[in-house]
Amino acid sequence: MIQRDAHTISLWQDHAGGYNTINKADRGKTYDVIIAGGGITGITTAFLLQNAGRNCLVVEAANLGYGATGGTTAHLNTLLDVPYDTIQRNFGKEGARQIREATAEAIQLIKHHIDRFDIRCGFEYADAYMFAQTEREAAALKDIAEATLMAGADVSGVDKVPLPLGAKKAIKVTGQAKFSPLPYVQRLATAFEHIGGTILQQSRVTAVQDKETILVITTQGPFHCRQFVYATHIPPGVNLLHLRCVPYRSYVVAATLADNNYPEDLSYDMQQPFHYYRTQMVEGQRYLIVGGEDHQTGHQENTENCFRKLEAHVRELFNVEDIRYRWSAQYYEPADGIPYIGRLPGQTGEIYVATGFSGNGMVYGTVSALLLKRLLLGLHSDYIKLFDPSRIKPVAGFNTFVPHNADVVKQLASRLFPAEKLEQLAGLAPGEGKLVNYEGSKVALYKDEQGGLHAVDPVCTHLGCEVHWNQAEKSWDCPCHGARYSVDGQVLNAPAGKGLDPHDIK
Ligand code: FES
Repeated sequence: MIQRDAHTISLWQDHAGGYNTINKADRGKTYDVIIAGGGITGITTAFLLQNAGRNCLVVEAANLGYGATGGTTAHLNTLLDVPYDTIQRNFGKEGARQIREATAEAIQLIKHHIDRFDIRCGFEYADAYMFAQTEREAAALKDIAEATLMAGADVSGVDKVPLPLGAKKAIKVTGQAKFSPLPYVQRLATAFEHIGGTILQQSRVTAVQDKETILVITTQGPFHCRQFVYATHIPPGVNLLHLRCVPYRSYVVAATLADNNYPEDLSYDMQQPFHYYRTQMVEGQRYLIVGGEDHQTGHQENTENCFRKLEAHVRELFNVEDIRYRWSAQYYEPADGIPYIGRLPGQTGEIYVATGFSGNGMVYGTVSALLLKRLLLGLHSDYIKLFDPSRIKPVAGFNTFVPHNADVVKQLASRLFPAEKLEQLAGLAPGEGKLVNYEGSKVALYKDEQGGLHAVDPVCTHLGCEVHWNQAEKSWDCPCHGARYSVDGQVLNAPAGKGLDPHDIK
């Protein structure tokens, strides 16, 4: 089992061993490229660049697979969370075609690495099914099907889906796949080190200064490089991208079935929020993996209830023997529907970023690696403009952008002028956290199972919003840009770079 950024553990993280690095980081040398983040984006980017002759260092705050890559459901799809009719509206037919082409190329690259390094990660090609259960969904599915076909996918209408339910209308898209993400990332990391790359784990990047060379300050000391990449899911610090990416949490259960009737392909309903279904064999055991109940980070009071609703949905559809795993994970929804990959806005130096992957982190992480490799090597790519983080889309994404920023204002205001009576310390049960009024100040207070109190300042160190308690993951989550903290205030997720200040409790 490996460490993760939450209280729950994912199927993948439970089956992964810790990654032992091979090469030692050298503070005396100037690396060609330093990459922050040891998930699929960081490791794939590092491998591709090292393979192209660049000397790379990956700096990971915890361990490989600690964050988003360890919490994914690992659908490898060109049929994306943001449908092609939306992408077409925002980026035109050619943009939609390029997105389909780029994601298909990413799946091919993953398969190529699996074959080349003989990676045992249960990779299988699959079809994807999207299905409508109401007239309204059926009308929306018609538009999605047309745009998906126009983008170049192999789409067909079907009568049945591989799930025990009826559908009014359904489509099938071929050329998708599934795998276990952590064996893939860890083996690719080893391949990267075998060709001279270096990985530094348990080391958080705390500052990046663009000087003659780029100075990267980490918790294990300073390093120098010529080019730098944030592959940290969302970049830390304060950036335009934090206004363009909205953080969400999604809930997942992995179950064994009593009747062995596992759905082998990938399926998606069209509810709001939608459910996603697939099966994966892990160490000889087949698991049904179902996700859903998504909500904006820090906006759900009772996160345990999200698991309960998801479990009820799974039990209603399937003959469940046992729910073996349940975990939640974070993703960032880009304002106009596709990721931001390229130069970090507001920076003059060679500082790059990849973020805003929606729920398609495995494919978009790999798309990012392919594009970043070309960008950093100074090569042409047809995708540079499409994914440019500085692109301006004043109309596209307007609905997402405004409420989210309005929320930022509300959160800041509520810190200064609390509207609700604060809960009292006496109401706290073991294993529970709350914002309480303690000696005239607001305190984020957690009582552990032994009755010990952990108290931190609830003001997010990113831009000052007030954090909210996440009961299911036992973390303090910021509703503004998705930073998350442990009960002792340590950073679990960027964009915060600094932990919450601890309070002394006597
Ligand atoms: Fe931006 Fe908390 S994540 S204010």
